This record gives sequence, structure tokens and C-alpha cells, in this order.
Amino acid sequence: MSNSLTGKIAVITGGNSGIGYATAEEFLKQGAKVIITGRNTEKVEKAAKELGAEGIVADQANLSHLDSLVEKVKKAHGKIDILFVNAGVFFPTPLGQISEELYETQMNINLKGAIFTLQKFLPILNEGASVINLSSINAYTGSAGTAIYAATKAALNSFTRTAAAELASKNIRVNAVNPGLTETPIFEKVGMSDEQVEGFKASMVSNIPLKRIGTSEGVAKLVTFLASDDASYITGSEYTIDGGMTLIGA
Ligand SMILES: NC(=O)c1ccc[n+]([C@@H]2O[C@H](COP(=O)([O-])OP(=O)(O)OC[C@H]3O[C@@H](n4cnc5c(N)ncnc54)[C@H](OP(=O)(O)O)[C@@H]3O)[C@@H](O)[C@H]2O)c1
Repeated sequence: MSNSLTGKIAVITGGNSGIGYATAEEFLKQGAKVIITGRNTEKVEKAAKELGAEGIVADQANLSHLDSLVEKVKKAHGKIDILFVNAGVFFPTPLGQISEELYETQMNINLKGAIFTLQKFLPILNEGASVINLSSINAYTGSAGTAIYAATKAALNSFTRTAAAELASKNIRVNAVNPGLTETPIFEKVGMSDEQVEGFKASMVSNIPLKRIGTSEGVAKLVTFLASDDASYITGSEYTIDGGMTLIGA
């Protein structure tokens, strides 16, 4: 699969870090023009410069930011071919300690933001466009402390199926990717110390049949396949990339 995205224009939300950043690199390698978003101006500009992509600051949870993002993309590029709805946050909290703020932050970014990102980009999605929603195996597991995060991802997968059915008549494909534990900075952002993060990862690895943590680059390859015309008959589907973790539960 080389230059599988030549001539395509792609938007990646949350593209300044982790899976979004690795996917931007892969999309660019495959010939696409790439626009990344993020919340923090400095981080977005730095990543865009490193990648050779375009960077636009837009909070996925803020509907007026989404309006202005779509307007800017439309002005610069007209329509787009690939929408990778990747931005998300993870704040593990046990039941009994879930605050309204933690609930709303995760729901607003991971679910509401994802839904409205697709809805607002709809008018500028080309016929044949591919939309990929970044979900998680947590949509199916009952891993302690992940109640709200898991609920956002389960709902996102449900939304993916309905959106795929509704948009099929426009030849727009919508799929979801469910990674397992993947090496990215997301775990450093939850307030755990470096030692706690390392301890958490080590304990998780013992539950992974392939005995290793996934990589952003691995997820990026799967997303790139779904974005390409090689996947033109795939819609409403989910792809798990977890080293076999869901085979034995989490
Ligand atoms: N890593 C894993 O093990 C794993 C497993 C399954 C699913 N996922 C999912 O993968 C996706 C990417 O996460 P990652 O692991 O690559 O983590 P990451 O390195 O923290 O990347 C997340 C990206 O989303 C951005 N972002 C967060 N909230 C945003 C908002 N409101 N508006 C715009 N951008 C926002 C972040 O920007 P900042 O740098 O400003 O925070 C960052 O660029 C998420 O949806 C996550 O739930 C991750």
C-alpha cells in the first residue's frame, strides 16, 4: 500500500500527539494533505510544523470552534475526503468518586464532540469520503475505574453504526477503530506519577496475549487502510487492535 491517499484531503482531530500524530505522519507518507487540530496553540503549531501539515486550533467539545474549523477548512480546501475523529481524553475514576465535571468533560469531548464534528463536516465531505471514529476496547470491557470513559466509547460505536447506515446513500463510509492499550502520552495526562504509569502498563501487559503494548504507528496503519479506497466496501464496521486483550477480558 504505497501512496494510497494521493490527492486526498484529511482532517485529524487531536493530531498534535499520540495516535493522531502518528496517523498524520502515515497519511502524509501516503500522499494526503493533512490538517490537524488540537486545543493548545503552541502544541498544534509545533506538531504541524514538524509534520509538514496544517494546524488549526479547535476544541472538539466546543460547537462554535467546530463551526470555525469547518469554515477555515472549506475556505482553504473546499471539500475533504477523510475525517479522522480521534481527539479524546481518559480520566479513570471509581464509581462513588465520579464528579459532574469529570462526567461532562469526557462526555463532551469523546462523545458530543465526536458527533458534532461529523455533523458539522457533513456539508464538506466529498462523495466517497471516509470517516473513522477512534473508539476503544473499553467500549466492551468492564475495566475498573473506566465507567464514564467506557460509556463514551460504547456510545461512539453505536453512533458509528447509525451514521454509517444514514450516510451510505451519499457513499460516505463510517467506521470505528478500537485500540487496546497503546503507547501514547494519554496516561501521563491523568495525574498519575511516572512510576504509577509504568506500574499500570506492566500490570496490563500481563493480560495481553501478545505480551506487548500497542503502538500509535500500528493504529495509524489500520486507520490509513480504512481511509483509503482499498476499504471502499467497508462501512459500519469496527476494528479491534489490542494484541488479543479482549480475548481474555480486561
Ligand atoms: N492510548 C491508548 O491506550 C488508547 C486506547 C484506546 C483508545 N484511545 C483513544 O485514542 C485517541 C487518541 O488518544 P491518544 O492515546 O493518542 O492520546 P493523546 O496522546 O493524549 O492524544 C489525544 C489528542 O487529542 C487532543 N485533544 C484532547 N481533547 C481535545 C479537545 N477537546 N479538542 C481537540 N483536541 C483534543 C490532545 O491534545 P492535548 O495534547 O492538548 O491534550 C491530543 O492531541 C483518544 O480518543 C483515546 O480515547 C487511546
